[in-house]
Amino acid sequence: MSIKAEEISKLIKQQIENYDSDIEVNDVGTVIEIGDGIARVHGLDNVMSGELVEFSNGVMGMAQNLEENNVGIVILGPYTEIREGDEVRRTGRIMQVPVGDELIGRVVNSLGQPVDGNGPIEATKSRPIEVKAPGVMDRKSVDEPLQTGIKVIDSMVPIGRGQRELIIGDRQTGKTAIAIDTILNQKEEDVICIYVAIGQKDSTVRGVVETLRQNGALDYTIVVNAGASEPAPLLYLAPYAGVSMGEEFMYNGKHVLVVYDDLSKQAAAYRELSLLLRRPPGREAFPGDVFYLHSRLLERAAKLSDEKGGGSLTALPFVETQAGDIGAYIPTNVISITDGQIFLQSDLFHSGVRPAINPGLSVSRVGGSAQIKAMKKVAGTLRLDLASYRELESFAQFGSDLDKATQAKLDRGARTVEILKQGLHQPQRVEYQVAIIYALVNGFLDDIPVEDVVRFEEELHAYLKQHGAEVLKTIRETGNLPEKEDFDQVISDFKNTFVVSEQ
Ligand SMILES: Nc1ncnc2c1ncn2[C@@H]1O[C@H](COP(=O)(O)OP(=O)(O)OP(=O)(O)O)[C@@H](O)[C@H]1O
Ligand SMILES: [Mg+2]
Repeated sequence: MSIKAEEISKLIKQQIENYDSDIEVNDVGTVIEIGDGIARVHGLDNVMSGELVEFSNGVMGMAQNLEENNVGIVILGPYTEIREGDEVRRTGRIMQVPVGDELIGRVVNSLGQPVDGNGPIEATKSRPIEVKAPGVMDRKSVDEPLQTGIKVIDSMVPIGRGQRELIIGDRQTGKTAIAIDTILNQKEEDVICIYVAIGQKDSTVRGVVETLRQNGALDYTIVVNAGASEPAPLLYLAPYAGVSMGEEFMYNGKHVLVVYDDLSKQAAAYRELSLLLRRPPGREAFPGDVFYLHSRLLERAAKLSDEKGGGSLTALPFVETQAGDIGAYIPTNVISITDGQIFLQSDLFHSGVRPAINPGLSVSRVGGSAQIKAMKKVAGTLRLDLASYRELESFAQFGSDLDKATQAKLDRGARTVEILKQGLHQPQRVEYQVAIIYALVNGFLDDIPVEDVVRFEEELHAYLKQHGAEVLKTIRETGNLPEKEDFDQVISDFKNTFVVSEQ
């Protein structure tokens, strides 16, 4: 950095002028270098890390690097109008976002400002975006299910309220679709949803918002958007803004779901920012504290104890992998922080198994205790069945003669795969999921041709709606399976009406 004589003399003059009023000097600084969204500012001796500062043209910045002679400030807005020598003022505030019911149904940026063209947000409250996560004594273990409405998740990798479940997969494997369907399913669940879109195309986010609106899900959802074209600091801040908005509801005893789509792009934005601030790069050029970047975010997901109101904040972070490599830096970090992961695979997706979840590599470490009893019973062996099916399938390709038991396993497996497929935006309530999985594991589908399985499921659900209200009600209200005779009876009654298609 070259030293300019006039700059130094100006600074010295200023120091002399303000000799007595050192409070003033501490609260106003001067830009000494500017570029790439980063300003170095001299004279803000008392500024706090993370404090908001205001440039003379009104643009805000956030103090990041507190060094001996200057402060590195990331600029949260257009920086082309800022010049060397401009004044910078402290605000004394750590960055905050507006919170509360007023935000529901709105699309906002990382600063909580509306970007949906529906007028200002009249929020009366705000919260700092960086706060400490709830402590050990304020928490309780996860004991309520968060129903995603997606059969393969609710049956095999169940998620509980307050859990952090990573959703990981290559690009275009249906990650965002899982987020949206989960949000759609919260319609009758009394869960407030926050969708944080990080580094996505604005047109994609627009599509998501439209889907939510059309399905009536915007009535309980906040969308935080930090688009691909926005400066890196806003991408970096978006998840913290989202979780702060969620915490307001959680501390008021409500249930919240926050989706971060996705944290790989946030980490890349943080890497950009750190390199520009000249922090030393480490593995994959990420700064040393990239683990802390995600751990302090995901620790804020919690199930609060009854004394604290019993609210919960469930986090669904997304991570994009390259060619299925879950051993890369960011994926391994986030896997180690979360309570399980759902792994989406391209080859499954392209072979038509959608959602393309690989049950072998997906786990949920705490959600099992929150699953309802009926689901736990019927889905208990599903994962093993599927695993042995995949194994046998590769043998069966050689066309050797198969014994009866093996053939039966293969038949069941093929039907299981069919049952676990699910279309876009068709979340299912848990009692319907239990019904079809019950039919599957009790052999009702074994003599139904594989091509008819999907239709069988649709028609079974329609039949139950009409003739099986009691059975569905028992599952929904008690969480237990109905009496075996009753359940078997209604399913066989339905099966008698089912017409197998002509081959
Ligand atoms: N269960 C499904 N059934 C049918 N189509 C699906 C399903 N899930 C996703 N798709 C389709 O696959 C495409 C990719 O899905 P999506 O955008 O959710 O993937 P993504 O992993 O989020 O992609 P990106 O990496 O671009 O963010 C979309 O066109 C979506 O409509
Ligand atoms: Mg996506």
